Order: sequence, then C-alpha cells, then structure tokens
Amino acid sequence: ALGAAMSVFVTRRIPAEGLRVLSQASGCRVQQWDSEEPVPRAELLSRVAGTRGLLYLLSDRIDREVLDAAGPGLKVISTMSVGFDHLALDEIKKRGIRVGYTPDVLTDATAELSVALLLSACRRLPEAAEQVKSGGWTTWKPLWMCGYGLSDSTVGIIGLGRIGQAVARRLKPFGVKKFLYTGSGPKPESAAEFGAEFVPLARLAEESDFVVVTCALTPATQGMCNKDFFSRMKKTSVFVNTSRGAVVNQEDLYNALSQGQIAAAGLDVTTPEPLPTDHPLLSLKNCVILPHIGSATYATRSTMAVLAAKNLLAGLRGEPMPHELKL
Ligand code: NDP
Ligand code: DGY
Repeated sequence: ALGAAMSVFVTRRIPAEGLRVLSQASGCRVQQWDSEEPVPRAELLSRVAGTRGLLYLLSDRIDREVLDAAGPGLKVISTMSVGFDHLALDEIKKRGIRVGYTPDVLTDATAELSVALLLSACRRLPEAAEQVKSGGWTTWKPLWMCGYGLSDSTVGIIGLGRIGQAVARRLKPFGVKKFLYTGSGPKPESAAEFGAEFVPLARLAEESDFVVVTCALTPATQGMCNKDFFSRMKKTSVFVNTSRGAVVNQEDLYNALSQGQIAAAGLDVTTPEPLPTDHPLLSLKNCVILPHIGSATYATRSTMAVLAAKNLLAGLRGEPMPHELKL
C-alpha cells in the first residue's frame, strides 16, 4: 500500500543526485523514462497511469489529457524548473494536485548566462569568432567588428524578479548609468539597490540601450515584445531574452533585426524549441541564439534535480514542500 502511495514517474534522465533522493526514500517506487530525449506522448500517457507523483520537465506539457491519463490518484507534480507556463494550472488546481518548482537555485546561473548572451550579442562574439575561422580576419581594422558597450548605458529590465535583479547586480559594475524596469507594478525595495526606475513598457523600449527580458510567460506577457515594441527601440539597441520564447513575436523581431530597426539580439529561448535549423532568425548575423541553457551548469542542474525530488517526496508525504507553487 505504501508503494502505491509513493509511486512516482520521472519523465526524463535527470542528474543522479536527484534520482538518488527518490530511490533512497523509504517506500518510494520510482519509474523513469531514462533517456536524454523526451518520452513519446503515447508512452507518457501509459506510464503516468496510476502514479501518485510526477517529476516533470518544462519541455513536456501537463494538460488535461495527461491528468486524465494519470487518474485521480495523482497528488503531486514537481517540475524541475522555475517556469511553470507548461502546466495547466487551472485544471491542476481543480483536481487538488500540489505543485513543486525550483526557484532561487538557478537564479545565479541564469543571470550569468544572460550577461554572457548580452555581451555576445553587443560585442558580436560568434560573428567575430567565425571570421577567425573563415579567414575574414585579414588585419586589425579600425572600423571592423565594432559593437556597443555597457559603459554609460541605460539598461531596461522587463521583469525585475529574482533573475532580473541578479542580472542588474551583475551588469552594474560594467558602468551602467541607469536602470529602468517594468512589471505589474513598482517594486521600490528590489529597485533601490540599482536606483532602478519603474517605467511603462513603451518608455523602457524608447530609452534603453539594452533590453533584458526576465519575466514569466503569462497571458499578459505573451507576445509583449512585438512590432510596436521594437519600433520604439533605438537603432543602436540590443535585445536579450532569457525568459520564454513566446514573450517575443519572432516575426516582428526578425523584421526589426533585418531592417536595422535594432542593432542585435540574443535569445536563449525561442518558439518553438528547438528552433528549426532553417528558421529565418538563424540567417541573421546580428542574432545570437542559444539552446535554452540559462540554468545549465553542472552544479545548478544537480541542485535543481535534488530540490525537485525533495518537493515531490514532501508533497507525497503531505508535508510542506521546500518550494511549493501557491495555486
Ligand atoms: P520571478 O517570479 O522572480 O520573476 C518574474 C518576473 O516577471 C516578476 O518580477 C514579475 O514582475 C514579472 N512579470 C510578471 N508579469 C509581468 C508583466 N506583465 N510585465 C513585465 N514583467 C512581468 O521569476 P524568476 O526571476 O525566478 O524567473 C523568471 C522567468 O525566467 C521564469 O518564469 C522562466 O520562464 C525564466 N527562466 C529561464 C531560464 C532559462 O534557462 N533561460 C532559467 C530560469 C528561468 P512583478 O513582480 O512586477 O509581477
Ligand atoms: C526554468 O527553470 O524555467 C528554465 O527555463 C530552465 O532552468
């Protein structure tokens, strides 16, 4: 009976430390899709049947079909991510299922990657490195491979949450003159450290030399960076997104980049993921695209897996989770 009460399905291969937490838990019966690739949908629907807990990734959606396939015994969903836009929360709440997630532990890694991506885009690092390989580097040329720097710049952060603040904290020592931010309302305590000013989205677009998107994907933020937004940005400005691809209208971004409306972009997230290799954005020299690696340090992924496992066990035992999403 205890086995049934603690039966869990882990939908992917995860860092060993996380799996160990589950397999060493007394009475926990663990099934896993032990592969780097996603579990095929049909397999997922059959494997979730009768489980009490799911350890899930952001690349697999949890919708009504999965919840129905799991059945009424499903008590806990633990996602190994801080983002939860892949979960049908209304349906999950209706069924009384608890949700665990992994905030904080990936903030530093994701902020670090955001800064790396920003610098790659504004200083044209992939393009310049390619020139070395292709023989385009003929001599030192005063007007060649110039980009834009952070000194005396204005940086606009869309979503001054955990990651947004960690990005601002890392960018400040580069000599940023002014931070702007936008969100659902002013956050004076969070903004004080950077002297950041709360502004409407349009003003952030108009005044920022660098825009960094670190908000959650919600109905309000979906498609928020669109034609109107990019048309307000300066021709010399750089756009960076490490949140979710759907915050950006990619066709509008492509037009802005290809028509010189903005200088460059760096994206760690796209729609869809993976981005098809023939996608127009990949043909642009001024667009640096990474495969959603914001949290990808060995240490961070291990910590995320352990936290996700602990959330799952606590939920199954009816205890407070280390990080429960309040529904
Ligand atoms: P937080 O909840 O701390 O921050 C989210 C921010 O989004 C909040 O500051 C919130 O602002 C803001 N936001 C909400 N609605 C709006 C809006 N309408 N306009 C502008 N901002 C808005 O989350 P984290 O910082 O921990 O993570 C943020 C996101 O980053 C995650 O949801 C995830 O999608 C993504 N992420 C991506 C990673 C990657 O690998 N690239 C890694 C980790 C996370 P307010 O408080 O004012 O509502
Ligand atoms: C998240 O946690 O939401 C990221 O996208 C991956 O770490």
